Amino acid sequence: MVNGKTIILGITGGIAAYKGAALCSKLVQAGANVHVIMTESATKFITPLTLQTLSRNPVYMDTFDERDPAVVSHIHLADHADLIVIAPATANAIAKLAGGHADDMLSTTLLAATCPIIIAPAMNVHMYEHPAVVHNMELLASRGAMFVEPGTGQLACGYVAKGRLAEPEDIVAAIHSWFDAGSKLKGKRLLVTAGGTMERLDPVRYLTNDSSGKMGFAIAEAALLMGAEVTLVAGRTTAAPPSGVNLIRVESAQQMLEAVTGVYAEMDIVVKSAAVADYRAVYVSDQKLKKNGENLVLELERTTDILETLGKRKQHQFLVGFAAETEQIEHYAMDKLTRKNCDLIVANDVGLAGAGFNGDTNIVQVFGPEGLIEAMPLLSKREVALRLLDIIAERLVFSGGGKE
Ligand code: CTP
Repeated sequence: MVNGKTIILGITGGIAAYKGAALCSKLVQAGANVHVIMTESATKFITPLTLQTLSRNPVYMDTFDERDPAVVSHIHLADHADLIVIAPATANAIAKLAGGHADDMLSTTLLAATCPIIIAPAMNVHMYEHPAVVHNMELLASRGAMFVEPGTGQLACGYVAKGRLAEPEDIVAAIHSWFDAGSKLKGKRLLVTAGGTMERLDPVRYLTNDSSGKMGFAIAEAALLMGAEVTLVAGRTTAAPPSGVNLIRVESAQQMLEAVTGVYAEMDIVVKSAAVADYRAVYVSDQKLKKNGENLVLELERTTDILETLGKRKQHQFLVGFAAETEQIEHYAMDKLTRKNCDLIVANDVGLAGAGFNGDTNIVQVFGPEGLIEAMPLLSKREVALRLLDIIAERLVFSGGGKE
């Protein structure tokens, strides 16, 4: 999958810069068109001539060293890259990218790039664990950067600890699996719902829930990464939706029902991760409700169960529901799977720390018709989304599912 791809290899100034040469060579051997950008400090560890010889392309170091008057180099490189890999990435390079600095060729190109970025950090263990570095890496991960974790072993500074640049073979494997992932859901149309619904009581008041939309957004992002065409129906959310999706904003459960059923026939995969209200007010006031001395009694009626409706109308679609539970997870999950005619149920124990609404992590168990398929440990919602879509992609291949 790397064959024919244009990859920018950013090499920054750490002792592991020499491994950048092996990485460059392996990528070229795999058929990639590699353009190397080195920071000034990287050139203290390894010469540009080495990288030029291995990549068979000019090596860039200086933003102002414009060799072709027809183009602006950092924009041209950024526009044509399928992927940027920074290996080794020093603490300084990570901080500059997190902070949006553009003071050399690499950082400027990174700011101009819209393609994915893989970062392979290498530094002393205390630097790697420093809260500032951890914060910068989390920030970059939340923006979609992928990391190849450093290994544990003898560090140049004498420590035997975590911080050693991952081996070039492991970085190449991560690059391969990233390109492979891009084809797993290629040509598939995926609908995901996210966030909570809002049920109006009057023009300024409504009933809602704690859903942030983060799980649904992570699924949308992961599906895009895996090559799917994504429609995202989002209710009330606190996080920002990803770009690159067909976004439909809704408020109430009824609006979500209409939006979802309107596009259902065209979809191959539907993931219902939204927290949909089970009840809405029977009477919605046009005017702001005024208080009086009495207690206020709200009469609520059931909303339509969207997932159940989709289950009843299912044809070729692969249908995935969510189940937020606090007890007897397997029993309730399997009950929902059968009752709502789903292919998978993603159940989370919302009583556990790190699971469920609002946070950046989740702990889920995935159930299929045969029972438990995978019990995932505490993971970022992004990782949960990738693993869930892997299960879906495998099952689609196995069943030959999806619309032709
Ligand atoms: N759901 C839906 N429409 C509703 C309510 C729920 O589509 N009106 C979907 C959710 O998007 C989720 C699944 O149903 O995928 C499970 O939601 P949950 O509230 O956990 O389950 P319920 O079926 O409402 O069951 P219970 O109240 O018994 O837990």
